[in-house]
Formats: sequence, structure tokens, C-alpha cells
Amino acid sequence: MRSTWRRIADPVLSVASILALTLGATACSTSSEKSDELLIYNAQHESLTKEWIDAFTKQTGIKVTYRQGGDTELGNQLVAEGTASPADVFLTENSPAMAAVERADLFADVSADTSKQVPEQYRPASGKWTGVAARTTVFAYNTTKLRPEQLPTSLLDLQQPTWKGRWGAPPAKADFQAIVAALLALKGEPATAQWLAGMKTNAVLYKDNIATLKAVNDGEVDGGVVYHYYWFRDQSKAKEISGNTALHYFGNGDPGAFLSLSGGGVLKSSKKQQQAQQFLQFITSKAGQEVLQNGTSYEYPVASGVPANSALKPLDQLHPPVVDPSDLDAKKVSDLMTAAGLL
Ligand SMILES: [Fe+2]
Repeated sequence: MRSTWRRIADPVLSVASILALTLGATACSTSSEKSDELLIYNAQHESLTKEWIDAFTKQTGIKVTYRQGGDTELGNQLVAEGTASPADVFLTENSPAMAAVERADLFADVSADTSKQVPEQYRPASGKWTGVAARTTVFAYNTTKLRPEQLPTSLLDLQQPTWKGRWGAPPAKADFQAIVAALLALKGEPATAQWLAGMKTNAVLYKDNIATLKAVNDGEVDGGVVYHYYWFRDQSKAKEISGNTALHYFGNGDPGAFLSLSGGGVLKSSKKQQQAQQFLQFITSKAGQEVLQNGTSYEYPVASGVPANSALKPLDQLHPPVVDPSDLDAKKVSDLMTAAGLL
């Protein structure tokens, strides 16, 4: 695993690949602009967005198509395409890609009808996009290798020599990079660079959250930094990668308690502003958020007062640090992680 992930992961798109994506998108835009269908650039998990689309189309009759990709990939693509993008809506797993598109000034304001459904702490102050779901950072640990009193108190503890070779994480994934972005926003560059150097020394690197959780479950490492929903999904099935593990929530406003907002926004260049806003309003409505409560994503609802799936630790007990999601800087994180030898 350690030897192969580097070849798979390439979070920074080369100029050539951005150009290729842009040309691909341009070729597609003709057909999508002709039709009445909304086009989503979807970096959220495909199954969740499909559930949202089906429910939205059923309620409104508006057809929706999507292009699937990762946060970084589609965020970079939108920035490269600029106002020529065929996309109407952008959905992500995490906030940094939304913040990058916001910085390029490509989003329209989120409608007041949508904003009033989403409490302030679950959307950026700028009003350029909104949180549509949330995931919390957790430390998944092997219960035969660690007792509760041996758990780290803070994410920052994991840079200490005592944790050498004992924890894992997926550095190439946008999921994990969002956590580093929060660390950067909360503690600043020197502290983040230092923590990343500690991670380089101490952590075993995996290709994604699932591989990390599996390594914890197999006892390859004592614990791993992942998002909660990978654990809950596995627990709802055969517990193949989580049966020997439990979750530690850092809480306390710690960077390790970072609550990452999945984002939704309408592109300013969309020619279907009203329908695109309607989609955002729908996914943050009671019906849209109930897809999170009752579906198989195990992500947190953040809007319209819909509670989380009862299997989850309630949102109001997580005590995450306060971060404005528009401040999360994917580019700086990528630079720091590259400098630390993690990418
Ligand atoms: Fe994910």
C-alpha cells in the first residue's frame, strides 16, 4: 500500500490535464446547454447525489445530469473553465474546493430561501455557497491495541515521537486535506508545517479512508485519522474493516474535531439560475436532509432542523473548532504537504 499510493494519487493537476479536462467539458457543453437538464459537477459521493437527484426530479419534474469527479479535480476544472463552464451546480465532499471556486469569483449568491434553512455555523459568511452535509474527523482505533486512556488528547499529539509508526492517514485524499486546511486556519503555517513533518515521520500512509480503517482493524497501526461515516457504513454491514475498532472523538474545539462541510453552490455563469437555486434549496430542505438522516451515506444533516441518523453521535455533542469554511486554502495545504514529502 505504502509503495503504490504515490503513483495513484496526483492531487495537483498538470496544465496539460486541466487543458484536457477543459476541452472535454467544452465538447460536452453544447449538448447540455441545448437541453433543459441541470448539470452538476459532483464531487460528493455518487450514491448520495443520485438519491438527491431522484427525489428532486420526482418533486419538481426538473431533470438533472452530473459529471463525477474528486473535489480537487472538479474544483480545478471549474477554475480553468471560468465563465465558459457548462456546470450549473457544484457539489463537493469538503469545503476547500468550494473555497477555491469562490476565490475565483465564479459563484452566484445563494438564495435567501436556501440560506434561511441552513444555520449560520454550517455555511460560509460570504453567502456564496452553503453547507449541505457534514462529516466529523475521528480517530478510529484498534480496541485490542489501545485502551481509552492511551488515546491522544489532541490531533497535535500525533506528531510526538511516542506515536511513531502507530497511526495512519490518507494524505492524497481531499477528505484528509480538508482536515489539514482546518489545522492551518486554526494554528497557522509554522505549527501546521511542524505537524506535517511529524506526520511524515510517524504516520503510515494509505490511499484512502477505507484502506486506513482496514489497516487499523487489521492491527497494522493502532489508530487512524478518518471521517466518521466510513466507520458507520461498515458497522451497518458486515463490520469487515471496523469490527476490531472504536471511534475516538477529540471534541473540545480541537483541530482533530474538525467538522468538514460538504458544499453546494450555483455557478454565476449558469443559464439556469432559477432551477439551479431550486436544487440547492431542495437538498437543504427537510426532504433533502432526510436523505442524509435515513439513507446510507451516514453523513450529518446540517439544515432544516433534521436530526442525524440515530446511530451517530449527535451533532451538538461534537464540539468542533470554529472555522469559516471560505478560509480553507487547498492550494496552500497542497504546497505544505508536498514540502513535507507527503504528496
Ligand atoms: Fe469521503
